[in-house]
Amino acid sequence: MKEIIQKIDEVYKRYDYVENKGEMLLFLIKILMLKFLVDNGRVVLDRKNAQKLRMDFTVGGILRVWSRGVSNAHHWTDEGKLTLSGLIWEDVKRFIEDTDSFENKNASVIGELYEECLHRSHKKSQGIFYTPDVLAEYMVSLCVSVVRKEKILDPACGSGSLLSAAYDYILKNTKDLEKETVHKRLLQKSLCGVDKDPLAVLVTRITLALKGEKYCYPAGIMVGDCLDKASADFKDSAFDVVIGNPPYVGHKEIDSEYMKHLKAFYSDVYQNKGDLSYCFFKRGYELLKDKGRLLFLTSRYFMEAYNAQALRKFIREHFTIKRLIDFNGLRVIGGIGIDPALSLLVKGRAPTRHAARVSRFFVQKGKLRETPVYIEDLESSQPKLHEDFETSQSQMDDGLWRLYGPRTKTVVEKIEKRAPFTLENLVDSFQGIITGNDKAFIFDDDELAAYNFNPRFLHPWIKNRNVHAFEITPPVKQILYTNEIEAIEKHPYEEVYLKQFREKLTSRRECKNGRLPWYAIQWGRNPECFMKKKIIFPYKAKDNRFAIDENRYFFSADIYGLTLKNRLYSQVNEEFLVLLLNSRLYNFYFKSFAKKLGVDLYEYYPNTVLKLKIPDVSMEISDKFKGFYDKIINLTETTQKKDREALLLEVDRWLYGYFDINEEEINWIEKQ
Ligand SMILES: C[S@@+](CC[C@H](N)C(=O)[O-])C[C@H]1O[C@@H](n2cnc3c(N)ncnc32)[C@H](O)[C@@H]1O
Repeated sequence: MKEIIQKIDEVYKRYDYVENKGEMLLFLIKILMLKFLVDNGRVVLDRKNAQKLRMDFTVGGILRVWSRGVSNAHHWTDEGKLTLSGLIWEDVKRFIEDTDSFENKNASVIGELYEECLHRSHKKSQGIFYTPDVLAEYMVSLCVSVVRKEKILDPACGSGSLLSAAYDYILKNTKDLEKETVHKRLLQKSLCGVDKDPLAVLVTRITLALKGEKYCYPAGIMVGDCLDKASADFKDSAFDVVIGNPPYVGHKEIDSEYMKHLKAFYSDVYQNKGDLSYCFFKRGYELLKDKGRLLFLTSRYFMEAYNAQALRKFIREHFTIKRLIDFNGLRVIGGIGIDPALSLLVKGRAPTRHAARVSRFFVQKGKLRETPVYIEDLESSQPKLHEDFETSQSQMDDGLWRLYGPRTKTVVEKIEKRAPFTLENLVDSFQGIITGNDKAFIFDDDELAAYNFNPRFLHPWIKNRNVHAFEITPPVKQILYTNEIEAIEKHPYEEVYLKQFREKLTSRRECKNGRLPWYAIQWGRNPECFMKKKIIFPYKAKDNRFAIDENRYFFSADIYGLTLKNRLYSQVNEEFLVLLLNSRLYNFYFKSFAKKLGVDLYEYYPNTVLKLKIPDVSMEISDKFKGFYDKIINLTETTQKKDREALLLEVDRWLYGYFDINEEEINWIEKQ
């Protein structure tokens, strides 16, 4: 493989005057296809064939040599006729002869090589990441039947890795005598795919065609937009299986016209800030027969993301959730920033007592293993890397899918039984400031003397790295909070300084549309919130990091703040809350349903944090915790680490006791 990629690079270098990269890719695909045919003895490069190939080096031309006359009705590409010069033909021949043979290789090698050739940046913006072989084989084994003659669709088939795996899986389970008939049936009737990328579609067709000894046209593979019925006109309710790895494309990368189309046709799954892949669930549903199976490899975010609430509802109401495989942040598809999950769904409402089977991998520190290791674990009857459990579908909350095993469930239930409030009942939350131009508004302490600003407009400024559990690193920066200035002309020092940024500041959207004066901070929030006693926490962290600020710090948008509501119903104070939130028990509790980012980072947005249940403690307990808190913040982590740890342990033990968590459960919590 390495050697052939090297050779492909050489071809690229030699032909770098070809400006159209698509043409270059097509040229390579044709060489690879011809090499496959030659290495497997289906085309002989004798003089006659060489002459024909040179005169018509098109996909159709090459296939005509293989099949001795492909019908013109078979639409392969729009190439017209293409003649190669003698030199280039020699180059092609050398490539075929000099690289490792494709003899007895799976034709899917063409797809793998095509993927290698695609430019990475192009791949990312289009959500193009193909399914690795092992994962494709495993996916197929989960949803394809080898006995029934099923219609199978990949709605975003790329270069065909899933369809190729489905083909191999079915053929492997077919008697030798029937193989030719089954091959024909699969290509002409059963296997369907669509993709927006014409070259990827071509590669899928070629891959499937090359799997047969004799030429047969793969009729079900087409170019089109699966989310647009006019463009990919498959009949609804036509498929037994929809299998796919649909594109993951966030709202920022979707063109506004296309977004309108999505919102019009997919409003029940796709709303603001949704991901393109959400729409594929609905389209997949429409295309499936009743009781048909859908298996998608997607990002796991849809199980937790705020913007996927409608999708979760759609899935719960329209499908029976058979199996969810949550890799839990293990990035088993190399080279992409996606945390994958597999969802196996059956079209049709779930019976009342239906329980979905969930396989969830444990969080694993250290180096990721090879993908086959994880697949083996999924197939093992004694898994080591994940836990299997069932979860009642009717109890899956559209607000957030909480998928946890029985041990975690018992602990969560114990907490929630003794905790009548949600954090939302007790606090108001607010996000930090977005200045819209930090250069203009944020200053190091030591540079400020030079400017003579009115100290009334200056406030200490912190960012998320300042915030730790219980502690805040003292700020060394300040913000010039100009939203407290009514008329800048009356403040010459501030005006003169800011004028150098005027052009940039004026170009901010809120200034352009007249909502803010040019010198204002873009999202200044309500300054009073910053002046209060408040609990603050970073929006992304590995562990719970809550701290109390009584120094009127202003902070950036990567921090959130909480202020206590009027204590009408509850007697908790900030100190109790911070000790509770930073405890091992609440760290565990939060992570049981928090949105994960990669292996060990979590998202701490209020829409999840505020869902934490909080106990109704007496004033006496709140005061006891205040006592703990005062002692803890007076012990620094460096010099009095042991005393501090002992106190934190005491708090942890107290909380375990309060929630009736037994030793076995404590071990489970602390092992995580
Ligand atoms: C993540 S890749 C997966 C390819 C293939 N299913 C696999 O598993 O290897 C996503 C593919 O979706 C295609 N795509 C993006 N939007 C599409 C749409 N609206 N309709 C059909 N295909 C689309 C891209 O061109 C890309 O090939």
